[in-house]
Amino acid sequence: MRQFKNIMVTGGAGFIGVNFIRYLLNKTPFKGNIYNYDALTYAGNPLSLQDIAAGYKGRYHFCKGDICDEKFVKKTIAKNNIDCIVHFAAESHVDRSIHGPAAFIKTNVNGTFILLEAVREAAEKGRKILFHHVSTDEVFGSLGSSGFFYEDTAYDPRSPYAASKAASDHIVRSYHHTYNLPLTISNCSNNYGPYQFPEKLIPLMIINALEGKELPVYGAGKNIRDWLHVNDHSAAVWQIITRGRTGTSYNIGGENEWQNIELVKLLCKTLAARTGEAEKKYTSLIKFVKDRKGHDFRYAINCDKIKNELGWQQEYTFARGLEQTVAWYMDNREWTDTVRTGAYREWIKKNYQ
Ligand code: NAD
Ligand code: DAU
Repeated sequence: MRQFKNIMVTGGAGFIGVNFIRYLLNKTPFKGNIYNYDALTYAGNPLSLQDIAAGYKGRYHFCKGDICDEKFVKKTIAKNNIDCIVHFAAESHVDRSIHGPAAFIKTNVNGTFILLEAVREAAEKGRKILFHHVSTDEVFGSLGSSGFFYEDTAYDPRSPYAASKAASDHIVRSYHHTYNLPLTISNCSNNYGPYQFPEKLIPLMIINALEGKELPVYGAGKNIRDWLHVNDHSAAVWQIITRGRTGTSYNIGGENEWQNIELVKLLCKTLAARTGEAEKKYTSLIKFVKDRKGHDFRYAINCDKIKNELGWQQEYTFARGLEQTVAWYMDNREWTDTVRTGAYREWIKKNYQ
């Protein structure tokens, strides 16, 4: 089992990064330091880790920086003796990539390249860094009503977001093959859980429903996604960085496929059970709206490899995960309100600029 002293988490102020840092500190034997390297774009929110910053002084460090800033990346790695990088930082929202792809190419492709160059330079100086690249199942394209994505499924990305992640996956692989660096990749399906920016389906629907706003379902709502609790994703990443084979990729998925419309109805039911309101109060808010351009029909992951090689198993049933998630957004209205209204940006300006 690999052991690390100083882990750099890029994008650690975003949805999965925040949950991963919490997982590292609370659920693993890791005793070293965490360096959260994040540019604090609209999706980054250090308020999500305020309790961690206060409770783990000396072990948790926040470094405000852009992964495209080569000098600062290299300085942060050298100064803090980083021996593992878990790379979450990215532009992550498909709809935004359709309206403005430039930031996706810059951060996801160029930013990943800059991190890899820093890892290569460190290796040349005799400092070995395990680099784990967090990627998506969207690189494989779109499935019909049957079949699964395997690790060796040919890449067929179809949105600018997916293409930028596919490009970065290829660059990571090329750095392993060419320079023999210790690199790993994971391709995961849709995550849900606390601290997710409410532009993504599940938090958007929960927050809108609670506020009596429309629940916008794209097209006929027949598209299918596979959902995994973010803590199960974190557990998988922990297994890969400590025990995964370098130079290889692992699929991670929930084996939990839902048509969007059925998922939205399930959310309405879960909300009704928690609030005591009639389910109809929420389902009546559902509105079918214009479809996403190039909307991928179905994603479904085969994750036998990580189960067989590393013994990873998901722990959350979807029912428990959704109930916990709905409860979290209802109980953390301060977080949701500051995010929804944009008030957290003011806080960042005051504290981080
Ligand atoms: P997110 O959008 O919630 O967070 C992204 C974080 O990266 C933010 O904190 C943001 O400030 C930071 N960031 C963006 N550009 C940066 C830059 N140039 N330099 C430094 N930091 C920057 O994303 P997420 O949902 O947490 O996804 C994290 C990673 O996981 C991404 O690489 C994404 O492709 C991948 N992924 C996400 C999902 C999912 O369902 N959310 C599923 C599979 C894979
Ligand atoms: O599959 C992994 C990917 O999952 C990650 O790589 C991405 O970073 C992450 O954003 C997610 O991408 P999706 O496009 O699948 O997620 P999103 O929550 O945006 O949409 C989920 C489905 O719900 C999709 O079919 C589009 C639909 N949708 C989404 C929104 C925001 C709606 O019908 N209405 C909406 O308002």
